[in-house]
Amino acid sequence: MRTLQVKLPGREYDIDIGSNILQEQLPDFVLKKETDLAIVVTNTTLQNLYPDHISNVLKDTGVRVKTCILPDGEQYKNLDTLSRIFDFLMNVSANRKTLLIAFGGGVIGDMAGFAAATFVRGIPYIQIPTTLLAHVDSSVGGKTAVNHPLGKNTIGSFKQPEYVCIELSFLNTLPSRELKAGYIELLKHGIIHDEKLFDYAQNHSLEPLDFDYLEEAIFRSCAIKVRVVEQDETEAGIRATLNFGHTLGHLIETHAGYGKYLHGEAVGTGICFAAFVSWRRNELPENEWERIKSYLSKIITPIKLPPLQKEQFRELILHDKKAHKQAVNFILLNKLGESFIQQETSVEMLWNEFNAFAENCPELVELG
Ligand code: NAD
Ligand code: GLY
Repeated sequence: MRTLQVKLPGREYDIDIGSNILQEQLPDFVLKKETDLAIVVTNTTLQNLYPDHISNVLKDTGVRVKTCILPDGEQYKNLDTLSRIFDFLMNVSANRKTLLIAFGGGVIGDMAGFAAATFVRGIPYIQIPTTLLAHVDSSVGGKTAVNHPLGKNTIGSFKQPEYVCIELSFLNTLPSRELKAGYIELLKHGIIHDEKLFDYAQNHSLEPLDFDYLEEAIFRSCAIKVRVVEQDETEAGIRATLNFGHTLGHLIETHAGYGKYLHGEAVGTGICFAAFVSWRRNELPENEWERIKSYLSKIITPIKLPPLQKEQFRELILHDKKAHKQAVNFILLNKLGESFIQQETSVEMLWNEFNAFAENCPELVELG
């Protein structure tokens, strides 16, 4: 098992990473909290695969455990579903000492985290992420949110968890497509901040699962995110580099229709696009652009987009949370492992580059 410490003053927490660690680590953490009630927030898929798993792990602690089971899917990451968590908490007479346990992927983690941030003005919560994406990204760093019909993750808050337990054995049941999509976010951390992590990943294969490899790779990936979050918890500066690939990624998710491509798949193409732009603007050496493209195109499926006109492209780009003054802060690379924020990047330039990208890389994106 590896442990990472998040050192945010007054909000420090540990991230444990390993296989078959939950049974050992979770009861100890919960006993230290001295709470008499823990609420597990999960979904129907996890409950079917791992029936009452967290209650069973905690059965000898004497803590009362209740499970709130939500429907599965990004389409339920909204205020209505959030209300179901609040109803549940009210019905079991939860109070400020009640511990919330998010048991699931990023959707569950983001919703449970936001419920914890707001219920009775804040209760403690912990993350037990079960997808690779949640292992390397969403369970760490304290961004919590639900979607509004007009924009993804637009209603939320920053609320750090008190503990994160990354139990690798949950990946045994994760579909291969989800696994690959999560791996993109792991690679992203290497591409933007640590070339050695990218090298390390290139020398190993993701499947079949090798927990020794994954423990090390996830540890390194989380360490990158933790270092960034410690410097800039609320995204006033460097944390924005973690959005690398997300400008085009969000556009793809919206324009293709939510659910057609997984978040990591869309971001994978977005990463290739941002690397392409970095190369064309003479920031990134050509061989590094080629290296990123050839590796990622082995993992991601080509994206097929419906026809897209310039005005629609502009609207989609400017709808993003990161847009400002009719322009966007776009993340570029100056080398593999080093990124920077290009303030006020014009939509015109991105549109021209997007067309050049589609023409040059039909193996990555096809325009209808
Ligand atoms: P998800 O939570 O929808 O999980 C993907 C699918 O896998 C779901 O059907 C889920 O039920 C299923 N699943 C989960 N664990 C499983 C397991 N062990 N075995 C089998 N099936 C399992 O999606 P995700 O990719 O984990 O997360 C995406 C969400 O995370 C998005 O809403 C995104 O906005 C959010 N996100 C948040 C942050 C953050 O910093 N808070 C960062 C990145 C992404
Ligand atoms: N997923 C990007 C961030 O946490 O900032």
